[in-house]
Amino acid sequence: MFARYRKNTESSAQPVRPAAGTPARQTAAPSAPAPKPERAKPVAPKVDMPKDEQRKQRMNSIKSDLHRRLLDNLNLSALENASEIELRSEINAIVVEALGEMDVVLNSEERATLNRDLFFEVMGLGPLEPLLQDDTVNDILVNGPKKIFVERAGKLELTDVTFRDERHLLRIIDKIVSAVGRRVDESNPYVDARLADGSRFNAMVPPVAVDGSLVSIRKFKKEKLSVQDLVNFGAFSPEIALYLEAAVSTRLNVIVSGGTGSGKTTTLNALSSFIGNSERVLTIEDTAELQLQGEHVGRMESRPANMEGKGAVTQRDCLRNALRMRPDRIIVGETRGEEVIDMLQAMNTGHDGSMTTIHANSARDGISRLENMVAMAGIDMPLKAVRSQIGSAVNLIVQVSRLQDGSRRMVSVTEITGMEGEIITMQEIFRFERTGIEPDGTILGHFTGTGLRSNFADRFKRWGYDLPASIYDQVKV
Ligand SMILES: Nc1ncnc2c1ncn2[C@@H]1O[C@H](COP(=O)(O)OP(=O)(O)OP(=O)(O)O)[C@@H](O)[C@H]1O
Ligand SMILES: [Mg+2]
Repeated sequence: MFARYRKNTESSAQPVRPAAGTPARQTAAPSAPAPKPERAKPVAPKVDMPKDEQRKQRMNSIKSDLHRRLLDNLNLSALENASEIELRSEINAIVVEALGEMDVVLNSEERATLNRDLFFEVMGLGPLEPLLQDDTVNDILVNGPKKIFVERAGKLELTDVTFRDERHLLRIIDKIVSAVGRRVDESNPYVDARLADGSRFNAMVPPVAVDGSLVSIRKFKKEKLSVQDLVNFGAFSPEIALYLEAAVSTRLNVIVSGGTGSGKTTTLNALSSFIGNSERVLTIEDTAELQLQGEHVGRMESRPANMEGKGAVTQRDCLRNALRMRPDRIIVGETRGEEVIDMLQAMNTGHDGSMTTIHANSARDGISRLENMVAMAGIDMPLKAVRSQIGSAVNLIVQVSRLQDGSRRMVSVTEITGMEGEIITMQEIFRFERTGIEPDGTILGHFTGTGLRSNFADRFKRWGYDLPASIYDQVKV
């Protein structure tokens, strides 16, 4: 009944696998001349091994044998149109038959696990699939075939998920990158891609990756964290939320700064919910992660060169083109290179309310990063001129951080106030004040105003955001 998904043999249109009920050994009989599948006996585990380990080894060996059979037997191109139910039944049928042949008895739970894993091998990303489906996982980090970490709630954990060996891992990497028309091998040892569900994917393979392939996946969250969610999680206070609403609505140019995985993109996404529905917003990213809710949103994604080295479209190309597309605001997912020039220019020439993220450890460090990026872009401008460009382009730097206990917090909100001589001046309006640390490592602290009133308070008021002066007060604990 599943013959559609079986490879046909030369001399007969019969499925390779005999119909249910037919003894499997007849498969290789003259009447059905399919090549006899190679039968690996499950490896007998060493006796001095712990029971759990023995079971794991046995399952792995059965899995790898069955996987080979599946690939031998299934007609993969027909599978593309198969429904999930059909494929699951087909896999189940092959498993039952093969286990019979191999003389292996499994309990129903083991069989279900085996079916699931094989389904993921054929249709998904193999051992990584359960981690991709686990909503509590933020990042998946593979350090060679035997070490797979996940990040949950800001903390890294080693999982018990493994690949059989480096070849298995490479096969899954290849499956991912070939699906998006890329290639990864010794001559192109690293690659960026986006998974079908929107997750961000990066892989680097040996020999550049010394101890086996390295894979990093930032999972795409369908349900983006809203400003209210972030307040509820303690990422920032309701007072800061009020302030940020005024800042974004009145079109200040905002930079979200932070380290790797500190929550920059999440914050940018949440802030964008304050953008008016009627404004035309263009987003530019290397990997499209932002999900803006407005009506007039145009999304752009840069792309690397193809295998012949042609066809690259950089963030800078997108940004230059965006300026001809009559945007009210421009949002660049992460500024890290020469596009900084056009970003600053856009911010200085009427695209107020533009936003981006940068990789930096403090507001002051963020400014130096921008200066460095300008210098690296090969623009020959005196430092003072660069600083005055930055000083007049950027209004607000929001610093986010992942603290040692895994929590992600907005640790500082800083306004750029102008220039004094060659120095860009700034004032911190809010900060996260640490007060201590619990024995379990939890960091104690609270958000507080610094006592300084916003430099933009009058602007906020003019636009209808008359914030109570008390939000800027220092919190006394
Ligand atoms: N305040 C928060 N509370 C809980 N989880 C958060 C918070 N902020 C971000 N996250 C989660 O942390 C992960 C990393 O966040 P995000 O992608 O925003 O970081 P990033 O700084 O942009 O990272 P990268 O440097 O890799 O671009 C995501 O899975 C996100 O859902
Ligand atoms: Mg990001």
